[in-house]
Amino acid sequence: MTTPAAAPPQAQTQSRRQPAPPCALVLFGASGDLAKRKLIPALYNLAAGGYLPDEFAIVGISRSPMSDDDFRQKMIQDLATFETGALDPQRVEWLRGRLSYMSGDLDDAATFDRLREALEAADKQWGTGGNYLFYLAVPPSQFAAIAERLGAAGLTREEGGAWRRIVIEKPFGHDLDSARELNRDIRAVAEERQIYRIDHYLGKETVQNILAFRFANGIFEPIWNRGYVDHVQITVAETVGVESRGGYYEEAGALRDMVQNHMFQLLALTAMEPPISFAPDEVRDERVKVLRSVRPITPEDVLHQAVRGQYDAGTVNDKTVPAYRAETHVSPSSPVETFVALKMYIDNWRWADVPFYLRTGKRLPRRVSEVAIHFKRAPHMLFRETAVEHLEANTLVLHIQPDEGISLKFEGKVPGPVMRLGHVRMHFEYSDYFGRTPETGYETLLYDCMIGDSTLFQRSDLVEVGWGIVMPILDVWSALAPRSFPNYAANTWGPKAADDLLQADGRRWKNDG
Ligand code: BG6
Repeated sequence: MTTPAAAPPQAQTQSRRQPAPPCALVLFGASGDLAKRKLIPALYNLAAGGYLPDEFAIVGISRSPMSDDDFRQKMIQDLATFETGALDPQRVEWLRGRLSYMSGDLDDAATFDRLREALEAADKQWGTGGNYLFYLAVPPSQFAAIAERLGAAGLTREEGGAWRRIVIEKPFGHDLDSARELNRDIRAVAEERQIYRIDHYLGKETVQNILAFRFANGIFEPIWNRGYVDHVQITVAETVGVESRGGYYEEAGALRDMVQNHMFQLLALTAMEPPISFAPDEVRDERVKVLRSVRPITPEDVLHQAVRGQYDAGTVNDKTVPAYRAETHVSPSSPVETFVALKMYIDNWRWADVPFYLRTGKRLPRRVSEVAIHFKRAPHMLFRETAVEHLEANTLVLHIQPDEGISLKFEGKVPGPVMRLGHVRMHFEYSDYFGRTPETGYETLLYDCMIGDSTLFQRSDLVEVGWGIVMPILDVWSALAPRSFPNYAANTWGPKAADDLLQADGRRWKNDG
């Protein structure tokens, strides 16, 4: 049931956005995929929305030799491919003019001296004021070394009111120890407030909307707790396989790739207490408290609360797709999981004994990311004598993607002389009310880095607590090789053990839309 808005939507509490302050964005990994698919289109969208200052410059840097003109040409060509909205030629030209490129060996200190000169030149030409944003869109093995060289070249030092910030892509560390080490290395050259660790899930409008939904409405908070909620399911399902990323994925697996970061962010936003304000550290404090309250998973628990799976070949749209082990750069006997299901508890007053079931996987039947709050059932008493066999529980679903919205499932009487119940679904779709703006998911994140708002970024403690939660699972799984891989066919909802995990508690996964 969709009720379109009668009047054009009004942004009720809109904080009027201003163009970001003058700055230069240095894009490490400028010839890579992230730059062309997401970052340049996001910068275009920001420019088109009036969010970039006129005093702005982008310096792309990577190993590939390219002239400024080649770089501009490539980026603008790719923009036409990856930008979903219509392009405004004037804005495109504006962006093209702001692009420049330098190639260099990132292991060589001289490259960073040249970068400093390029930035000083940008300050003169564009008035970027010595404010620099260093975006590390590079393989994780290079994060620490680049940060160190930036520090050695004096580029992270903030002087005369100018700011310097480092943006770090995921994955942040490979386990708890490496994340701690990386934190130490980066903090040796920059303060915590200068470090922006990206989790692109926090850039999604609907993920941010969890906060608005929970805290800007009076009716949900009173029932958002163990008194009313039976359990919560968080699903991030993908239909794609590992595609061309077999090499990376063999080192990661679903637990590192999706759970420790994206899914824990969804968990934290769903379960956190209201912050006293939207100041970055107030919000981040509450998020980290949720993860700190997660009941530690012992090695023994891993066997009962964590399920891993790996996809086999299967049929998708009448076409056969290969098993994970047959993908490029994947070992034919790979023990790496492409599916994870977990049961977790948050031991605080709000959530004690409410299970949170998390599930993510590749090659599942439907692309969907959602948080489903399953409320307790109504007592059966009133309907005992009727034809009602089984009263469904109310479910509130926060649809993160692809159909962004919120829906509530409840029971209603089917018209007629007999008391019969039917399920009703009340559905709000984001695009019906607020329209659709072309978005890559990186716009807000980039803008926030420029204005110095770190609310949507991972603080070091958050990253470390997240790793701390999954470490026992990683340890047990690496000690005990999976015996049944592959254990689910492509285009199915994961291994049977994942269904058993909920069935043992008298529940089942919500697989419908
Ligand atoms: C990335 C993972 O962080 O998120 C990928 O490395 C995954 O494996 C992707 O496919 C999913 O992101 P989204 O935005 O498509 O849900």
